[in-house]
Amino acid sequence: MKEQIKSFINDTIQKLPVKKNESSLEITIKDKKIVLEFAEKECILTFGNYQKTISYDLGADKFFTAQKGLFKNLEPLMKDMEDKKAFGQMLSTWKNNVELLLEEKEMAKRKEALAQKLAIGYPEPSLGNNDLDVGYEHFLNKVRDEMLSVFRSMGYTLVEERELEDEYHNFEALNIDADHPAREDQDSFYVGKNHLLRTHTSSSQIRTLEKMLKNGGEPPLAIVCPGVCYRRDAVDATHFPIFRQMEGLVVDKHVSFADLKGTLLEWAKAMFGSDTQIRLRPDYFPFTEPSGELSVSSPNLLGGRWVELLGCGMVHPQVFRNVGLDPDVWKGFAFGTGIERIAMMRYGIKDIRSFVENDLRFLKQSL
Ligand code: DAH
Repeated sequence: MKEQIKSFINDTIQKLPVKKNESSLEITIKDKKIVLEFAEKECILTFGNYQKTISYDLGADKFFTAQKGLFKNLEPLMKDMEDKKAFGQMLSTWKNNVELLLEEKEMAKRKEALAQKLAIGYPEPSLGNNDLDVGYEHFLNKVRDEMLSVFRSMGYTLVEERELEDEYHNFEALNIDADHPAREDQDSFYVGKNHLLRTHTSSSQIRTLEKMLKNGGEPPLAIVCPGVCYRRDAVDATHFPIFRQMEGLVVDKHVSFADLKGTLLEWAKAMFGSDTQIRLRPDYFPFTEPSGELSVSSPNLLGGRWVELLGCGMVHPQVFRNVGLDPDVWKGFAFGTGIERIAMMRYGIKDIRSFVENDLRFLKQSL
């Protein structure tokens, strides 16, 4: 211990004028001296009238801490010093050195503790580890986020709505009456008499418009609503009862079918490449009039074959009336698409069930 402490003090005072012999150190600042005597069981520090005895039994750490305390005692003596500046400098150099050494000791202790932990296989997350499997963004989230960023760049706002809907918002408000044949295609999971898991994200259109008007707002409005939907479909390679859609809605005073077409073309190009073409064919949806079905063709997608991707149209006047907007003043377009379908096209995935099977060999490919 004595040797350890001696060498520590030697290190701390390297830059100071020092006289050494076997059992003592004499530090001189101008004509002032600090003397350290290394006795058998303790180190005695003398400075003017001040004397401090530091027992080696304290252990190395405590010895260092005791020294830190010592500076506090030395400082008041400064006023008696002739050369305050030189003394102050000496003190601060010593102090810094002691602190540095304390830090080093602390680090060494921590390293040692860590080494011990690691030796017995204890995990240490702060170390980082290149072998760790960091996880992969799911194909579906990746496609959803890509679509969102395209729409955001066009000024759309993200809205997320409830998955448990009432029949009114899922059907009637969208102009799908109780006896409408479309209801049969969208048989769902009912929770109680009037509530069901939404069969599409189109209900988000109604919810958002209602909320906006209730809060005293009014169009213009441009939203995209991604989310999970449910239908009682038999499971096969292209059907799964739980799936995702993304809905889009724009309402303003002068919105035309040309705006819808331009928007979808921009989106298709951003998703499938600038040489993508789109085709719109008439379709039927109770909540849009006219309604269309969008197909895209891109050299990057199934060799340029036309692929049906989404349903769309001009918001039906009855939908506007249902939420309390005057269809003679407001116009709008809407579109809705399946996220699974786009991901399948995009990555050539053959079976929709792959998304939920959690086979790592599949999931890792989304990197
Ligand atoms: N909700 C329709 C479906 O699930 C998709 C759809 C079609 C959404 C036309 C729309 C639309 O907004 O205008 O099949």
